[in-house]
Amino acid sequence: MTSVRRVIVGISGASGAALAVETLRILTKLEVESYVTVTAGAEQTIRHELGPKARDEIRALATRDLPPSDIAAPIASGSFKVDAMLVAPCSMRSLAAIAYGTGEGLLVRAADVTLKERRPLVLLAREAPLHEGHLEAMLKVTRMGAIVSPPVPPFYSGLESLEDMTHQIAARALSSAGIDPGDVLRRWQGAEL
Ligand SMILES: Cc1cc2nc3c(=O)[nH]c(=O)nc-3n(C[C@H](O)[C@H](O)[C@H](O)COP(=O)(O)O)c2cc1C
Repeated sequence: MTSVRRVIVGISGASGAALAVETLRILTKLEVESYVTVTAGAEQTIRHELGPKARDEIRALATRDLPPSDIAAPIASGSFKVDAMLVAPCSMRSLAAIAYGTGEGLLVRAADVTLKERRPLVLLAREAPLHEGHLEAMLKVTRMGAIVSPPVPPFYSGLESLEDMTHQIAARALSSAGIDPGDVLRRWQGAEL
């Protein structure tokens, strides 16, 4: 059982909507409250990548599912206590908005609040290849205290399927945010090479 009690999960319109679902499944198992906000872009990628029922699963897994326009939501204020925030997956648009502190929409505002309160913020930034603007935004948010953790597969960990890979990436992102995902994360124990 983790001591972390409450986490924000922002879901933006990058490819990899399954990362959000896996993250929420793990948090649910850990009995951690999840405050979820889904951007308009993510509504499309969720439907396209996971089918029409996935959005309902996200709603069911979330403790609260907050509209992206609700800038008066609890997570829009630093006085509302949360332990960490993940953006899974994180689009280049959301990344840039976070980097420049634009505060537009609930996801970007909540990320801004997470940074200003010096709480862990993990961005599963997904795009390839990357141009200078993407890299600059990544450097900027890193200097501001965020952890940029692109969803790259841990090829060495005996991945068995796409689901397994997604699960491992989500578990690692949670670990980076200070949330111990428990046994679901296969940790390297060393090997004879
Ligand atoms: C199927 C699909 C896949 C996409 N994949 C990515 C991606 O991997 N990275 C990215 O930055 N944008 C991607 N986009 C574009 C974003 O959804 C778009 O830039 C959107 O405006 C992001 O806004 P948001 O951050 O508010 O969700 C994708 C769009 C679609 C429809």
